[in-house]
Amino acid sequence: MNAMSRQQPKASDFLQDALTGLSGAQKILPAKYFYDAAGSALFEAITALPEYYPTRIELALLRAIGPQLRAAIGPDSLVVEFGAGSGEKAELLLRALDRPAGYVAIEISASALDGALLRLRAAFPGLPVCAIEGDFSVMAELPLGLVPGPRLGFFPGSTIGNLTPPEAEQFLCGKRAMLGADGAFLIGLDLAKDPAILIPAYDDAQGVTAAFNLNMITRLNAELGAGLDEALFRHEARWNSAESRIEMHLVARAAQTAHIAGQTFSFRPDESIHTENSYKFTPAAFKALAARAGWRIEACFRDPQDWFGVFLLRPA
Ligand code: AVI
Repeated sequence: MNAMSRQQPKASDFLQDALTGLSGAQKILPAKYFYDAAGSALFEAITALPEYYPTRIELALLRAIGPQLRAAIGPDSLVVEFGAGSGEKAELLLRALDRPAGYVAIEISASALDGALLRLRAAFPGLPVCAIEGDFSVMAELPLGLVPGPRLGFFPGSTIGNLTPPEAEQFLCGKRAMLGADGAFLIGLDLAKDPAILIPAYDDAQGVTAAFNLNMITRLNAELGAGLDEALFRHEARWNSAESRIEMHLVARAAQTAHIAGQTFSFRPDESIHTENSYKFTPAAFKALAARAGWRIEACFRDPQDWFGVFLLRPA
């Protein structure tokens, strides 16, 4: 494992996913397409918004539980982060751990990956670092040649909440095989709470989340030549209590048409593209999900308000 190896798995297929997603009765686009360079920058801005509490609380929690994590996880772990983002949380985790063996970042956004690597190389000179630019949800195995040591998966930010329950179960199951019998998994989870707190977190007063969502239309136009009028879409955050999730939609203000690769997609007024789910968990529901995927919960750390949890999992 050299200081900065970069691997390139197969690129995600925005065209194919757009053609499929816009063909259904409820139009959908996978949330992973938010994260081009502009979308990643907007997401970073979201994490600093007063209404968007998850990042702030998780960072405070990770700072507070450092000694407990160090004791529970033990020495010489190779940290494998799924969706590295800015690398700020990995830096806190690596500082907390006893003699971390190295760090592997798997990240779909090349710009975010570059930023995370810069940060971690500066913070930990000499720590073996491996960068993998790609979609962590489809990656089944780690590359050969990584440093030895127990694998510690790291999935902060409640990104697992952006997967449907079957996807989350499949993800957790696959990562149990990837991380090995002596591995562990540290996962940050946004906990179920009053929608009066959740809705503003996904529909902020400054309109940053709206811009993040509308960037999907910008990408459809710029990359697939869809020819949509961005001004004719508005952002909407909805609480779906039956599914315990926030949904983000792009709602057409008026009828219009997209043309992509020779196909035509019509929008009725008020018709939406469903762009994201963000599931909110109870500890019991997460315990059951983890158990279905072959994990047991070794420890759970929560903030005093019970808004966010960091869960340490071991193979069952
Ligand atoms: C990355 N993910 C966990 C964020 C979330 O809260 O679901 C993405 C996001 N969407 C809107 N705001 C933030």
